[in-house]
Amino acid sequence: MSDVSRPSPAAVPVETRTAVVIPAAGKGVRLGPGAPKALRALNGTPMLIHAVRAMAASRAVSLVVVVAPPDGTAEVKSLLDAHALPERTDFLVVPGGETRQESVKLGLDALPPDYDIVLVHDAARPLVPVDTVDGVIEAVRDGASAVVPALPLADTVKEVEPATVTGEPEPVVATPRRARLRAVQTPQGFDRATLIRAHETVTDDVTDDASMVEQLGLTVVVVPGHEEAFKVTRPLDLVLAEAVLARRRLNDGF
Ligand code: C5P
Repeated sequence: MSDVSRPSPAAVPVETRTAVVIPAAGKGVRLGPGAPKALRALNGTPMLIHAVRAMAASRAVSLVVVVAPPDGTAEVKSLLDAHALPERTDFLVVPGGETRQESVKLGLDALPPDYDIVLVHDAARPLVPVDTVDGVIEAVRDGASAVVPALPLADTVKEVEPATVTGEPEPVVATPRRARLRAVQTPQGFDRATLIRAHETVTDDVTDDASMVEQLGLTVVVVPGHEEAFKVTRPLDLVLAEAVLARRRLNDGF
């Protein structure tokens, strides 16, 4: 006798698969002279490895595509081989481009077909907690085309007419209402087809992927970000990042 209570294969929801593209091909000039930013150490471990671990910490993530400095793919591959990463996660390394946008596109081009959700995460945000990653993935699974984690701002923001000579005073042209502003972080999450279309359509210089989806006329939604998802940009950020790691070690000790 057949078991009629068992759903047919077609009725079983197929688990959506999630991949992460990590653009890590930037030079990081604002951090001062030295190795490409993603390869600089935080507590002895390259920032990129922290970022990859932060993504692989999510059980939903089964592939991480690292977009490496064009002359550094071999080094990045051996770094990934040398550091313990979860077995459930696969890795790919591809060479990056001139701009962040180009690097992300090169990462997308390398994605195998069976991933429906794609996250894009800056290597420069090595300490994002797993709950933030999972929150972004969940919002895409719930039907959003594009999701960004973000925080309210502490500072008031002014729009200025940028000076043509460095150091000249810049006239303020507007003060957007702070309560309506959010500081956007990564990982940003996307329905794969939407992100690919955005990268094929939008050619303007942009600083994040979600703004490309906005330019397609689609809605991008915001979920809560986290203060530990800050971007390591300037030398002081390295000090802060090491302090966060020290606090985690202390907390893990109890
Ligand atoms: O320069 P910015 O801080 O906005 O870079 C954000 C991320 O994009 C960094 O992780 C950086 O390595 C990456 N990037 C890249 N290719 C470039 C420039 C930046 O992958 N050509």
